[in-house]
Amino acid sequence: MAKTIGIVTSGGDAPGMNAAIRAVTRIGHANGFQVIGFERGWDGLLNNSFKRLTPRSVGGIIQLGGTILHTLRCPTFEEKGSSEKAAETLSINDVDSLVVIGGDGSFRGALDLSRESDALMVGIPATIDNDVYGTDETIGFDTAVNTAVGAIDKIRDTAISHERIFIVEVMGRKRGFLALEVGICVGAEVILIPENPMNIADIVKFMEENAKKGKRAGIIVAAEGFSDTSKLAQEMQQQTESEVRLSILGYAQRGGSPTARSRLLASLFAEKAVELICQEQGNMAVGLQNGAIVGVELEKAAKSRKPINLRLLQVADMLAT
Ligand code: F6P
Repeated sequence: MAKTIGIVTSGGDAPGMNAAIRAVTRIGHANGFQVIGFERGWDGLLNNSFKRLTPRSVGGIIQLGGTILHTLRCPTFEEKGSSEKAAETLSINDVDSLVVIGGDGSFRGALDLSRESDALMVGIPATIDNDVYGTDETIGFDTAVNTAVGAIDKIRDTAISHERIFIVEVMGRKRGFLALEVGICVGAEVILIPENPMNIADIVKFMEENAKKGKRAGIIVAAEGFSDTSKLAQEMQQQTESEVRLSILGYAQRGGSPTARSRLLASLFAEKAVELICQEQGNMAVGLQNGAIVGVELEKAAKSRKPINLRLLQVADMLAT
């Protein structure tokens, strides 16, 4: 009987998840597997809710943001007995391997499940935060960067016209990868990330030095995890003559049609995931490292902290002079 691959999308959605679902399904079938997709993240395993996926059923989705399987954050999955219940669902459906498409939190769920199930666990990193250890880039990150850059380029027009300082909050609850790359790409005067604390006085001083050089308008890109940006804007307004405004990009960064790069990454990550399954290599994640698609130990991908290149902040400073 043909072996079965299960797919689950978990955690925050990311543009490119559908491209990954499509590729796992088609490459899985090409290698003789049946494929089923569990619905609404881990909840689908707790409630045995899934749909069969065929090469035809994943047609026309490569360009769609979001996930056709739906997703959710599933705190109940951390409750006692959940992994056993999910393992039972895999067993009764003869699922021999499970591809988990999501971020580090989803990978930790896969690790917990691996202790209760013999099914091979393979993680595909997909989150706009790009904060998963073992991969230079996650599915969805490039799309979110381009979405934010497009929005901030527009904000800069009004910043220049009104000679205002705009604080633009981008996503990244815990890490600053998105803010750092977006900041460089929009020529931000200041980039605020959780990994590099800065006090308001220093930010104001820098902006006022810019004003003396004739740069009266300015863009400050702040990761949501840096601080309460509405409070930051209020405090900055009190400490500077310039008009200060706040713009929160929010969930627009999570959606939209995936860029070509996000689609390519999704397709190649999926191919590697099916290769690992064919080689019966479980408890692994896939990643991009120095241009190569590699396998990474799931434990490391789930639990290790991805380093960030803080030198890029100095590069951004030089670029903003
Ligand atoms: O993990 C991706 C992410 O978009 C974070 O950047 C953001 O803080 C979080 O998800 C928002 O989570 P939710 O969609 O549950 O509000």
